[in-house]
Parts: sequence; structure tokens; C-alpha cells
Amino acid sequence: IFTAVEMAPRDPILGLNEAFNADTRTGKVNLGVGVYYDDNGKIPLLAAVKAAEKTRMDAQPPRGYQAIEGLGAYNQAVQNLVFGADSELVSSGRVVTAEALGGTGALKIGADFLKRLDANASVYISDPSWENHRALFESAGFKVENYPYYDVATRGVNFTAMKAALLGLPAGSIIILHACCHNPTGADMSDAQWAEVVEACRERKLVPFLDMAYQGFADGIEEDAVAVRLFSASGLQFFVSSSFSKSFSMYGERVGALSIVTANKEEAGRVLSQLKRVIRTNYSNPPIHGGAVVAAVLANPELRQQWEDELAGMRDRIRAMRTSLVAKLAERGVAQDFSFVAAQRGMFSYTGLTAAQVEVLKDEYGIYAVSTGRICLAALNTKNIDYVADAIAKVL
Ligand code: LMR
Repeated sequence: IFTAVEMAPRDPILGLNEAFNADTRTGKVNLGVGVYYDDNGKIPLLAAVKAAEKTRMDAQPPRGYQAIEGLGAYNQAVQNLVFGADSELVSSGRVVTAEALGGTGALKIGADFLKRLDANASVYISDPSWENHRALFESAGFKVENYPYYDVATRGVNFTAMKAALLGLPAGSIIILHACCHNPTGADMSDAQWAEVVEACRERKLVPFLDMAYQGFADGIEEDAVAVRLFSASGLQFFVSSSFSKSFSMYGERVGALSIVTANKEEAGRVLSQLKRVIRTNYSNPPIHGGAVVAAVLANPELRQQWEDELAGMRDRIRAMRTSLVAKLAERGVAQDFSFVAAQRGMFSYTGLTAAQVEVLKDEYGIYAVSTGRICLAALNTKNIDYVADAIAKVL
């Protein structure tokens, strides 16, 4: 039965981990996957998480099935973070939130639900976008197209082209938007541009789907939620996938959520009932641990403050690495202006390195990056940054 099965290509991002782990060189550096490492090159276990885990383990809770939509306290905590603690949408019962298996899981249950609503809609993702967006919506059965986004010349958003494209889309099109810290480019829209996107969605009757996997990595929890806030104020219905993989450094626990903003409380009840069917037929109900830990941290004022401080520490360290890399490339006589790296936001930078240059970085220096030239700044540290700057300067 497997004779006709062809070898699939490695995943463009997670496949790099496989190759990196198999690499025996000691100085190797993984700038591929979007993971935050501390200055010692380790994935941190946050102190707030450790404290909540200890309490939980001491209590030895039973491991029964969760509700299909996950832990109520967790879903509430997600709504407070994503929509704001004083959100009218939340208090009026218009938001449906279901715990999901990371941001990817949230996108997947959202995609499956959307497919049931309108099987013929097309999905539009930014050009470029996170590699898995296309694959994920295609595997849910959608036709996936691009809308213009990144401008290589300015290293910013080509907003004129983007807006014109949005205004030309058929009604009912699903548009995937990166709420903050655009992956892979690090180029975000201004607040004013977001407001125009909201109006374009209203005018063209588009279905906005905000992917927010990096809340807190640009300017802060509240600041990074501007896009969600603008959509919330618009009266439109929309989707938000969110994730604690990065902000809680809980990658492997798969803690994310899908939130759907509906027109009213009664509609919310119907939407939740259908979303539960999607979840039940995918994985039944989510695992307990990660969501319980996140809920415990966010419900405890001291732990929450500790977490916000730790998140700020990650954000600041990434920023420091951005400025340092720009300076170190200049010190090495690189003629090209890399100042855009310091201006980009979140974990990534779209360096402009070609696929061939990325290949040389890997083969000759053991430095792994995505073939599109995306690097993860959060994997740089004070010990490896000179090595990386040397290698990039040579490759250029
Ligand atoms: C990334 O873009 O590297 C992360 O979002 C991890 C992933 O799942 O691809």
C-alpha cells in the first residue's frame, strides 16, 4: 500500500531543526525556527511558569478529559489579553474562545470551521507569509492566493499595493493578517494603516483572520494588540488565533487559542456549538497542563507581573541583538545598509540573503536560516553574534 508514496520535502522551518540537530559541528547556530533562546543559548523556563507548575504538581490534580473547548479560566484569560480586560465585546458575550493546540492548531480549527461556512471562499495571505499559512489553508481545502505586502526596496510594507488588492477582492474572501511582528518580514503596518485595512474589510465584506503569535514581542501586551482593538471597535465579525508558545516559552506544550467575534451572544452560542464539533472530530479536547499553567499565571497578580517582566526581558534582549548585529555588520565593512534589521519588529528579520547565501551559511559555517533569508534574531547571543556577523559579512 505504500509503494507509490513519494518522499515529501522537509518542512521549510521545522525541517531545519532536524538538519540542525543532526549537525555535529560545535559552533553551529540555529537562526531558523522562531524560538527565543537566552544569552546562554538555552530556551528559558520562565520563573512564573515554574512557580505555577510547582503549585499544580503539588496539588496532584486528576487528569480527566477537558471540555471540548478547553479550560474556562484559560479561555477567559486569553480574552482578557487579546481583547483587553475591559472589552465590551467580551463582557457582552460576543466572543467565542476555544483553547487550541498552539497558534497552528487555532488556525487549523478556524480553517476547518470556515470551510463549513463557505466552501468556495478563497484565502488570501500576505506576500510573503509564514510558510505554514498556505499549507494549512490548502490542506483545509481552500484555494490560497497572495496579497501584496512586503516591499523589498523600502524593507517595509507596500501599503498602497496591499490596500488596492484588498479593495479588489471578492466579498467573502478570507484574509489572513499578522496582528503584530509580521512573520517572516518583521515589517508591521502603522496604526493608521490598520484602520484603513479594517475599513477595506468592511467595504469589501471580507472575513478577517488575525494571526497573533507574538503578542508582547514588539512593544508590549497592550501595544501589540492595536489591530485587534481596531477590529473590535469596528463592529465587524472576525477571527483571532493566538499563542503562548513564544510569550510563555512553552513551545512544546502547544498552548494557543482561537477566538471568534460574533454579532451577538445568541450567535456566539451557535458558533461555539459548531466549533466544538470541529474540535471533537480533530483531537477531541485539548491537553490540560499548558492551559492550566497559563491560566494560573494570569490569574495571580504577582505571577502575572513576573511574567510581564520576563516577557519584557525577552523583548529587550532581542532588540539589543538587532542593534548589535547592525553595528557588527557595519564594523566588518559590509557596504549594504542593514539598519532595517533594527527597525523590524518581533523575532524575525527578512535579511535579503538569497537562498544560495543561506546554503553557504549552513554548509560552511553551520548557521541555519530559512531559505527565504529569514533569520530569528532571538537565537543570537553575546557569544555567537560575532561568529554570525563574520559569516554573514563573508557570504555577502
Ligand atoms: C516559526 O515561524 O518559526 C514559528 O512560528 C514556528 C513554526 O511553527 O513554524
